[in-house]
Amino acid sequence: MSTRVHPDVETVLLTQEDIQSIVTRLGAQISQDYVGKNPLIITVLRGAFVFTADLLRAVTVPCSVDFMAVSSYGDGVKSSGVVRIVKDLDTKVEGRHIIIAEDILDSGLTLSYLIGLLKARNPASVEIVAFAVKDIPGKSASVDPRYVGTHVPNEFIVGYGLDYAERYRNLPYVGILKPEVYS
Ligand code: IMP
Ligand code: MG
Repeated sequence: MSTRVHPDVETVLLTQEDIQSIVTRLGAQISQDYVGKNPLIITVLRGAFVFTADLLRAVTVPCSVDFMAVSSYGDGVKSSGVVRIVKDLDTKVEGRHIIIAEDILDSGLTLSYLIGLLKARNPASVEIVAFAVKDIPGKSASVDPRYVGTHVPNEFIVGYGLDYAERYRNLPYVGILKPEVYS
């Protein structure tokens, strides 16, 4: 399928076909690992909603989904690690096998805070599925996702749910945002 590339996008990193094969693989891995466990997939809003919607349909074992929204006090480009819950879960997580679905793992500060918070509610297990992990030279994220879709360079990435200032989430591909757009 040909998609016209948005003028603010410098390079397309993942096409719709690339995304589909990543999600299919992640869904198969999760389906294999969670037989009989009825996992609760938690979407971290807003970015991960697009990924989760596709991932759910690639998971073949019974599972449920719930949503959380957190806001990190950052400048829009970098996260600060100080996180506030904007929307909490409606599901009780005690004894449940949780899989947190994240759009992109950068410093991991947001997730490490979230994991601490969820573990305090005594789930049976907590794992992370990250659609993308940003490769930051000389730095490793403060969390270790069990399932990784792909690695992306240390640039600002948009599309497939990922935004800059709430824009570009609707792009069906993943691309690098032109630096002049946010600088
Ligand atoms: P972390 O706490 O540094 O891992 O940041 C994670 C969150 O920051 C992600 O869930 C995204 O919402 C956002 N984020 C980090 N890097 C990017 C990016 O390149 N594009 C869009 N959002 C990003
Ligand atoms: Mg996010």
